[in-house]
Amino acid sequence: MTILTIPTGPIEGQKPGTSGLRKKTRVFMGPHYLENYLAATWDGIGGVAGKTLVLGGDGRYFNDRAAQVMLRMAAASGAKKVIVGQNALLSTPAASHLIRLRRADGGIILSASHNPGGPDGDFGVKYNVANGGPAPEGVTARIFEATKTISEYRIAESQDIDLGTIGTARLLDMEIEVVDPVADYQALMEKLFDFPAIKALFAGGFRLRFDAMHAITGPYASAILESTLGAAPGSVVNAVPLPDFGQGHPDPNPIWAKALMDAMFGAQSPDFGAASDGDGDRNMIVGRGIYVTPSDSLAAIAANASHVKAYAGGLKGVARSMPTSRALDRVAERLGIDCYETPTGWKFFGNLLDAGRATICGEESAGTGSDHVREKDGLWAVLFWLNVLAVRKVSVADLMAEHWKSYGRNYYSRHDYEAVDSDAAQKLVDDLRARLPDLPGSEIAGLAVESADEFAYDDPVDASRSEGQGLRFTFDGGGRIVLRLSGTGTEGATLRVYLERVETDPARMHDDPQEALAGIIAAAESLAGIKERTGRDAPDVIT
Ligand code: G1P
Ligand code: ZN
Repeated sequence: MTILTIPTGPIEGQKPGTSGLRKKTRVFMGPHYLENYLAATWDGIGGVAGKTLVLGGDGRYFNDRAAQVMLRMAAASGAKKVIVGQNALLSTPAASHLIRLRRADGGIILSASHNPGGPDGDFGVKYNVANGGPAPEGVTARIFEATKTISEYRIAESQDIDLGTIGTARLLDMEIEVVDPVADYQALMEKLFDFPAIKALFAGGFRLRFDAMHAITGPYASAILESTLGAAPGSVVNAVPLPDFGQGHPDPNPIWAKALMDAMFGAQSPDFGAASDGDGDRNMIVGRGIYVTPSDSLAAIAANASHVKAYAGGLKGVARSMPTSRALDRVAERLGIDCYETPTGWKFFGNLLDAGRATICGEESAGTGSDHVREKDGLWAVLFWLNVLAVRKVSVADLMAEHWKSYGRNYYSRHDYEAVDSDAAQKLVDDLRARLPDLPGSEIAGLAVESADEFAYDDPVDASRSEGQGLRFTFDGGGRIVLRLSGTGTEGATLRVYLERVETDPARMHDDPQEALAGIIAAAESLAGIKERTGRDAPDVIT
């Protein structure tokens, strides 16, 4: 077997975003594209010689090919070992767990998360570090630098490795261990949650519908929820992962998981509904006739942690991304623990979790997790809810009604304007940034502006500073608007507008969120002139 050294040159635009490098699948399949990025990754992490890495992906189109390339390149650069999920599959949380469990040096996750897959969809590559979490900004910056100076890469010339069979193989001097993608993850869940209590819940006739959206969580959910916990056969729907996710958009929100919403709001609806995304780190929670926003789910999880085995000893602290609603802050205050506010993206939670400052964290974008891994974890959130419902013997609707009564309700919604002209979107943000100093004290659409600034984060653990993390505006009476541009889109720019308002009067807590937020929505429009500047009448996605 020989090692080939292939001459290449820098390719524009290989800058990792919020969560690794995401591009159109066809771009990734272009000459040298994937190879350049992997070689730059090796460079950015100080080489792979002698290292052990984990490899897996969400099963989308090109996952299998990309995995073979990764193995050949790792072997050619002297990696000691790669632990790979069978058929190159691993959910993102399972990959994070495997890195930690095996004390690997890091891992490569092949995924574009909730973005659609297929030859015309998206693909992505993400590097996670030894704590199991996404590479911090210092590392991704070095990777990006390396993409700009690359002149060659090394790759082993070999046949495809059989990744369908559990066991070990060799490629040059590198060991390849193919493992069951579910087993270790399931063992971790059994440690965290009260499986007998959840089993008893299902045995008592509790009905579940889990929509795996033809993505990676299917095998995990079938094994854990149906085979182990005894949910009725067929409770997990769309359970078989497909390379194009069945032409769907594997993002668990009321828009893309509409079939689940219909089932949960229809006659004879199950007791509990849930969904997860392409790579299994996001979740959506729905009760009979009630959708729980991710921000509310995060707050409810923290508030009910004392009912769950692994967390009953108390939370060290909690953390949320800045645009996530402040419902969590109210729970933290009651519990007398710290609540950290971080920039968007899971990587910012890593230090807080490692340092034992936070136990549970989450984002408004359907991400919830804890210190059990260093990624958000969709199935973990679902099991957490099931555990709470099993112990407390209440419905989702009753639990949330009680929560709002006790803490107040943070009405929340995110409006996304997708594939907007990049220059127009950038100008909108730049113009608004220029006006920040003048806004406090002024009135926008009848609301008094209390503060206006651009969020910057000083990491309390490593003292690193991250600037330019979103424009935020607060209003007298507890309203808030946040605006930022997405760092995961692959087409033009995506403008995200986050809207929030607090209601403490129990008599008024049951309005439709869009109606309850009408004043804040009007203020956002008047503040930023979104319609005129984007040329859109309405958001593309409302969650
Ligand atoms: C989006 C979400 C963010 C999440 C990320 C990766 O990033 O908003 O919360 O961490 O996907 O799943 P964005 O496109 O907003 O940069
Ligand atoms: Zn994801």
